[in-house]
Amino acid sequence: MSVHIAAKKGEIAKTVLLPGDPLRAKYIADRFMSDVKLVSQTRNIFYFTGLYNGKEITVGASGMGIPSIGIYSYELYTEYEVDTIIRIGTCGAYTNALKLFDVLNVEKAASESTYARFAWGIEEEIIGNQGDIFDKINETAQEVKLAVQPTTIHTSDIFYRKDADIPVIAQKYNCSAVEMEAFALFANAQYLSKNAASILTVSDIIPTREQISADERQQALNTMIGLALETALKM
Ligand code: HPA
Repeated sequence: MSVHIAAKKGEIAKTVLLPGDPLRAKYIADRFMSDVKLVSQTRNIFYFTGLYNGKEITVGASGMGIPSIGIYSYELYTEYEVDTIIRIGTCGAYTNALKLFDVLNVEKAASESTYARFAWGIEEEIIGNQGDIFDKINETAQEVKLAVQPTTIHTSDIFYRKDADIPVIAQKYNCSAVEMEAFALFANAQYLSKNAASILTVSDIIPTREQISADERQQALNTMIGLALETALKM
């Protein structure tokens, strides 16, 4: 048990897929995995451990935002000896060069957040993916003939804001899209010398306000889930 995860030691696999939403974690476990066991449901943040093509994998939720993924990823890495975390989530595109349903492999995440500085003394406002999981995602995407774009994104603390302009940090680093977690995951993994990557599906185009519908969302996410699971087989 850790502070926020009830699983016993040994009940979490070395590779963890981390969507934001607990029900999405359940969907992945139900739909893609066998021999599944619910290993934690503290705060209704579900963690399931099971088999995908014979390999033990855990899927669980990060919750939304930097503080939440900061807690869960830290406890997974330090209390459960997890080696690799693949965040799977959605993002809003800052540019209409991206299209709805595009799949991104996050090369770097830039953020105004003070999380990395105050947690670990990491002064940079942009942090890269950690270890070789990013490369393995690209390799796997090629094998399954899926177009995946390596990109720099903005990890924001803010979903609603009064100003429609692209935030200064996103302009500075030419960020193609925005989400709310990758920077903290990468900071924890950098400090702890672990592997971390983030695969994102574009769910909205901010300049045009296009969005994928709730129905389309699940199908769109299946592509990304398949890519993350196939990549996990290589870890
Ligand atoms: N902002 C932040 N996170 C997001 C967005 C957004 O517009 N869309 C999907 N995740």
